Amino acid sequence: MDEILVRGGRTLSGTITANGSKNAGLPILAATLLADGEYHIKNIPNLSDIRTMIKLLRTISTEAEFTDHELRIITKKEKNHEAPYELVKTMRASIYALGPLLARCGEAKVSFPGGCALGARPIDYHLEALHKLNVTIQIKHGYIYAKTKGLQGAQIYFENKTVGATANVMMAAVLAEGTTVIQNAACEPEISSLGDFLNKMGAHVEGHGTESITVQGVKELHPVYYSLIPDRIEVGTLLVAGAITNGKITVTNCMPEHSGIVLNKLRDIGYTIEIEGHSITIYNKGKRKPIEISTNPYPAFPTDLQPLFAALLSTIEGKSIINENIFSDRFMYISELQRLGADIKLSGSRISINGGNKLSGAPVMAPDIRAAAALVTAALASEGETRISRVYHLDRGYEHLENKLASLGADIERIETDALY
Ligand code: EPU
Repeated sequence: MDEILVRGGRTLSGTITANGSKNAGLPILAATLLADGEYHIKNIPNLSDIRTMIKLLRTISTEAEFTDHELRIITKKEKNHEAPYELVKTMRASIYALGPLLARCGEAKVSFPGGCALGARPIDYHLEALHKLNVTIQIKHGYIYAKTKGLQGAQIYFENKTVGATANVMMAAVLAEGTTVIQNAACEPEISSLGDFLNKMGAHVEGHGTESITVQGVKELHPVYYSLIPDRIEVGTLLVAGAITNGKITVTNCMPEHSGIVLNKLRDIGYTIEIEGHSITIYNKGKRKPIEISTNPYPAFPTDLQPLFAALLSTIEGKSIINENIFSDRFMYISELQRLGADIKLSGSRISINGGNKLSGAPVMAPDIRAAAALVTAALASEGETRISRVYHLDRGYEHLENKLASLGADIERIETDALY
């Protein structure tokens, strides 16, 4: 239960490198269950959700060695096919074990994920789509018991775009008999990257990155070397941190094409964005103005950066609006930002921000990963000291964000539990 202490008011400057993508890494790690042998995956961020996924793989019979952002995984023949409650309750993405386990073992027992800080988050799309691939599913004692006598290709249409269910179906379909077509598929770069990874393993996936993905099942796959794509959400977080302090920072190891709408929104506010190869620089010379944002599936504005922009827009004079269209309850952080002096009103899934109040430091509690980052960012622009607790949320998705911000000039430190109690 570490805390982060921020003394606000410093202007950030300098260059910082983004890590590999958490949300690309999680399904890719699960996909290593699909074929025995040795994998090397580079650019892996050292954060707690990734470590939880490695723990899960180990319980299913995988050897893993994780050093300096490189992961060596050896997937072995004998397999346990269970994702236990103890792991799933700390990370919903454990549901990614379902598709690969069905494909490899013909059965899976995965703890049913409960609600989370973003709301109900059902998994009906995962289960209905797998059922179409010839899987029988029973829910008993808090577990999903899934079994198949042989996965069969099918036509899948998702009523709403879903990153997780698109990935799970892709991972099951690669070893199914026949062809699977996924319509209204998620187009996120993390899904494109999963498709590339599976193809490198010998799968036949086409159309990943578009709304229609076709998977032609193959008999077997093989292990590979791979390097993860950069984390576009961490990139956005760092840019907002630079922006909120009116600094000038450069983020390297980016794929700027993955951040298109985010960069446009920062431009709309008044920031100058310069792109050079894999680097993005942000600074501001003139007046900043309020904007309206609506979150939606990629390539629209990402819900994961919504709390970060709420923090930023709280410091900009005038009325900004954010419409949250992915997770209707993703506003638990508002009351914490209000403790720092932000003037935000919530109405349904829309917030209106009366920006420009001078924020002032206070103790706050992080309710989820991105909210934690938003509170850290708001603290950078707040007068005096802010203490952010429940930092384990931050650590799920960011590799020592405090060290990165400190290297850009922020007055920020982690206070470890032992020092507190
Ligand atoms: N949905 C259903 N039924 C399902 C699946 C999803 O109703 O079976 C709904 C969800 O409740 C939500 C919408 O569909 O309203 C989209 O959910 P999606 O399945 O796309 O989300 P996810 O796969 O659970 C991933 C990321 C989230 C990110 C969302 C949206 C991972 C591990 N998680 O979640 O990332 O917010 O896509 O882009 O990739 C984070 O990193 O902090 C995070 C929460």
